[in-house]
Order: sequence, then structure tokens, then C-alpha cells
Amino acid sequence: TQKIIIDTDPGQDDAVAILLALASPELEVLGLTAVAGNVPLEFTAKNARIVCELAKRPDVPVFAGCDRPMARDLVTAEHVHGKTGLDGPQMADPTMPLQDKHAVDFIIETLRNEAPGTVTLCPLGPLTNIATAFQRAPDIVERVARIVLMGGAYFEVGNITPAAEFNIYVDPEAAKVVFGAGAPITVLPLDVTHKALTTAPRVQAFRDLGTQVGLMVAAWTNFFERFDKEKYGSAGAPLHDPCVIAWLLRPDLFTGREVNVEIEVESPLTRGMTVADWWRVTDRPANALFIGDMDAEGFFDLLTERLQRLS
Ligand code: BDR
Ligand code: CA
Repeated sequence: TQKIIIDTDPGQDDAVAILLALASPELEVLGLTAVAGNVPLEFTAKNARIVCELAKRPDVPVFAGCDRPMARDLVTAEHVHGKTGLDGPQMADPTMPLQDKHAVDFIIETLRNEAPGTVTLCPLGPLTNIATAFQRAPDIVERVARIVLMGGAYFEVGNITPAAEFNIYVDPEAAKVVFGAGAPITVLPLDVTHKALTTAPRVQAFRDLGTQVGLMVAAWTNFFERFDKEKYGSAGAPLHDPCVIAWLLRPDLFTGREVNVEIEVESPLTRGMTVADWWRVTDRPANALFIGDMDAEGFFDLLTERLQRLS
């Protein structure tokens, strides 16, 4: 099994990613680290626990991390995810505790305690917790097996500004630290996640599972997709964050290129842009595997099959 830490700002799509990981025997989820992003930290730390309890996994430790970006005010996305971040179905408050330890300390200690090269970091939100850990404990960087993150864009460019994807935009300084750190990185950008669309038959397949998890995922999706349907006339919403977990489970569903990615932090116009050298027009060394395409049918088959395992 592959040991992972999921760093997350749930978020309905984060929630589905967490469920996919918890349903997959190939992965051992060492902990969930919450970060401020889609909604403030108090909600993301609570939502992460709601998801663990839904999966009947209150044993998974949940840690609260940074409540704001490294150098900027927090920008949130209630317009997509609702006030709580998990708007949609009615959910009871979690009863499992939040851990006392700070998420950044958990990340540092885990990477120091586990054998080098055995822990994969899966950031699904702004990169504040990861970058803070790298800055505070540079020795952990070379112990990271890989960072597999949802963020950025190439052709599809921005979803929060014309130039930037939300997770990178919210904390570009953190993204710059992470992309410059030297650990192997896989990037699941909007170009890919916009193909993971929750069309009506795919949501019906979740509902048809007939389980509490299946019904909840369908209900979250129904709320989450109203933004894309109303604004863009889309057939559904992009299930961004589960693509990270799917890449770990089935990299054969994805194709990409090793490229250099730099993060824009100066320009007000293009702040948070992931400048990916797709055509190798510079001699800057590759620092990330930038995914460009995915098999969406294969992805939804995998997701539905795995969710079925959570009763
Ligand atoms: C990313 O931003 C959030 O709204 C989603 O959870 C996802 O991680 C997509 O840009
Ligand atoms: Ca997210």
C-alpha cells in the first residue's frame, strides 16, 4: 500500500476525493490536513471529519492547519461550494475529535518518522500547509515520495481569474515554494479536471448504488454543479480533486508531460498563473509531470466501483 496525506479544503469535490481514497485498499490514508481555501478553516476542518464519519472511518486523524495564505488575505469560493463548503444535503455535525496537533507539525513529523520516499502528499487546496512545512523543515523535502496535486491550468487557463486556477491563485507564494522545492510533482490541472464532468447518467450511477455514500455523493454533486450549469450551461460540474486520487490508483487513465512550471506571484493581472513550458521553449529543467488528458469514462467507472465499497 501507498501511504498518503491528503491536504484539503472540503469542498464537495474534495469530499469525493477523500471517499475515493478511503475506499481504496491500495492507499493508506495517514491523516487529513485541513487548510483554508474554498471556505475558512473552521469549516474545512469540520467538513473533513464529516467525510471520515460518512465513510465510517473516524479513526483517520484530522488536523487543522493554516487559516490564511502565507502573504495574502484569504479568497474563498462560497459561490461554488456554498457557505459551509459542503452545502447540499443536510449533514449532522461530526462527533470525532479534531487532533490537537497543528497540520504543519503532523506533516513534518510524519515525513521524518516514516521511511524516506514512502509518503505521498496529495494537496487538494491552496498549498499553504505544504509550503509552510517545507520552509520550517527543509529536511523533509527529500523524504517526500511525490506530491500529486490538483491545481493550475494550461490551455483551460483560469477559473477564479482569467489567468489563474483557484488553488494556486489563493496562495501563489506557497505554490512557488512547492514547485521550487525539488520534490517530484504530478499536476492535475483544469485541462484534465474539466473532463471529469458529472453528467446526469454518471450522477445517476452514484445514486443507483443505493448506499448512504452513493446518495450523499449524488446530492453533493447536485449542489456543486448548479454553478457550472447556470453560468456555463455545462452538462455537469468538474470533479477536480478526485482526479488526484485516481492518478495514484490508475495512472494509465492519464497522459501528460514532464515540463517546467513556474508560478506568477508579481503581476496583479496574472497572479497565480501556472506558466507551464509545454513546448520546451526554455531550457529550464522540468519540475513536474503536467497531466494533459484523461479517460473520463474510465475515471467514473473507477470512482463508482470504489464508492460502492463504502456501505
Ligand atoms: C479547485 O478549487 C476548489 O474550488 C476545488 O475544490 C478544487 O480543488 C478547482 O479549481
Ligand atoms: Ca479543493
